[in-house]
Amino acid sequence: MIYYFSGTGNSEYAAKKLAVKTGDRAVCIADVMNGKAEIEKDDITGIVFPVYFWGLPEIIKRFAKKLKGKLGGYVYSVITCGANTGSADKMLEKLLERKLDYSFSLKMPDNYVILYNPCEKEKAVRFLRHSDKELDEICEDVNRRESKRAGSTGGELKSLFVPYLYDFFRTTSKFFADEKCTSCGLCERICPDGAIEIKSGKPVWIKSKCQHCTACINRCPAKAIQFGKKTAERNRYSIYDLTK
Ligand SMILES: Cc1cc2nc3c(=O)[nH]c(=O)nc-3n(C[C@H](O)[C@H](O)[C@H](O)COP(=O)(O)O)c2cc1C
Ligand code: SF4
Ligand code: SF4
Repeated sequence: MIYYFSGTGNSEYAAKKLAVKTGDRAVCIADVMNGKAEIEKDDITGIVFPVYFWGLPEIIKRFAKKLKGKLGGYVYSVITCGANTGSADKMLEKLLERKLDYSFSLKMPDNYVILYNPCEKEKAVRFLRHSDKELDEICEDVNRRESKRAGSTGGELKSLFVPYLYDFFRTTSKFFADEKCTSCGLCERICPDGAIEIKSGKPVWIKSKCQHCTACINRCPAKAIQFGKKTAERNRYSIYDLTK
């Protein structure tokens, strides 16, 4: 089984491609966490998710604790990132209380519009072509049950303190929908952890559930969702826009 968490689709894309090329099944971690899917003991398990602040998304921390002790056979992770993943693989191992047989840090377009300006579509398409080649390599590695660490890990020292910033940044108080909001409800439907409720036609954010995955802000068709003052001028990134 391949378990994945994804906000803007990079990790979902990687997990589904891996599933096709390794003859496995991809299951959404949010579904496991809210009881819609089960953890199954397999001879091969993949865990695919984005790095957040050189560490793990909050839902991955909870999921890893749930997975602990239930893993046998070959276990691998594919951690997607805009630049590098620091020691996210080691953090996952610590929570799983076991070594990963294989881990790849896969560079894909950066989606963190809250801090940076995501790249233009044409550049993202070129970037993805490169990610796709690396993904082919990962599929071959997994089919051979390769044992190694590869890809863009870098910045391991940052993982000593940067992951602690995640909780500080993971506020929802600066999210708002501006006058362009058409009350379509898409943001509520696509939020992977149920952190948005539409009230009087507008989204309301639930802080305790929000992963800061940026799906809502990047995928709003009206570009109506903002976080503070800087995002109105920035590009939006979602793999779903590129693969339509
Ligand atoms: C909250 C947050 C923090 C991030 N932190 C990092 C980081 O520390 N290093 C990095 O290279 N990319 C970082 N990124 C970029 C994502 O990891 C990257 O774009 C990932 O492929 C997105 O995956 P997804 O489309 O499956 O959600 C961050 C993105 C978010 C939303
Ligand atoms: S996705 Fe955008 S337009 Fe649709 S309800 Fe949410 S904020 Fe409004
Ligand atoms: S509210 Fe937005 S940023 Fe937070 S988890 Fe949902 S989609 Fe992601």
